[in-house]
Amino acid sequence: MLQIRKLTEHIGAEIRGIDVRVRLPADTYQRLRMALCQHAVLVFRGQEITDPQQIQFSAGLGPLEMTIPSDPIGDGGPLGVISNVDKLGEIIPPNDVRSLYTKGNMLWHSDGSFKPIPLRASLLAAKAIPPAGGNTEFASLTASYETLSAPQQEQLQGLFAEHSLAHSRAQIAPNLMTESFLDDTPPVPQPMVRLIPETGRRALLVGSYATHIVGQPLHEGQTLLAELLAWVTRPEFVYSHRWQLNDLLVYDNRCCLHRGRDWDRANCKRILHRTTLAGDGPAPASNAPPHTP
Ligand SMILES: [Fe+2]
Repeated sequence: MLQIRKLTEHIGAEIRGIDVRVRLPADTYQRLRMALCQHAVLVFRGQEITDPQQIQFSAGLGPLEMTIPSDPIGDGGPLGVISNVDKLGEIIPPNDVRSLYTKGNMLWHSDGSFKPIPLRASLLAAKAIPPAGGNTEFASLTASYETLSAPQQEQLQGLFAEHSLAHSRAQIAPNLMTESFLDDTPPVPQPMVRLIPETGRRALLVGSYATHIVGQPLHEGQTLLAELLAWVTRPEFVYSHRWQLNDLLVYDNRCCLHRGRDWDRANCKRILHRTTLAGDGPAPASNAPPHTP
């Protein structure tokens, strides 16, 4: 029987009592979808799954998004591999360009916020975990918004920020992205506060892909973005996940930011298999009319 146990006051829940390897009843997927909207991160322990089983479970939660063919982590199919290991199973040196690219995951971000239709959710299955370090941290975009003062919330109404994958990767190293990947991911404007239709809550949309605020002087907008990011990532809004082998995590990119933490990447393998759920449209601004199912 499905059990939901909160992990912190504001973010994260552990799910027990289900086996994600089998096709689940429709109402179980529905309960999980709602739990995901409410808790932003769902943790399933001890799920030894194959890639097809991960894809099947993900598809039960919603339509899948394919990886961008020019993205180094994918091949255009539904599965991406986030790891420090090459195809032959050898550890990639930390200063290799492939390692630098994945270091972008260590900046706070919402997967796919640089896309016109941002990703709805992501799933990570742990295939190899270092003995220490390598946590993934999640920060609530809803609880952090709700604890802003009314004038601060008012200030954000109707604002848009431009999001760019190139901007995020440029913070790691210049010229990290190929021309074709740059062409596939031009910058896009996103509302700074968006509505989560299922719960009626509002969520901030900030993170390392946000470059500046549309219509504001560059420095002014960047200062506000940095202040908001510092607020969102205060300890009370963060859940830090210590990985165990065969963990499966699902996180709602509309409701939380996340980042990976460093580990001894020169000597220890860390392999996560990722699937993603597609968004159902452009991010709805918070002043959009209420959702009617
Ligand atoms: Fe990510």
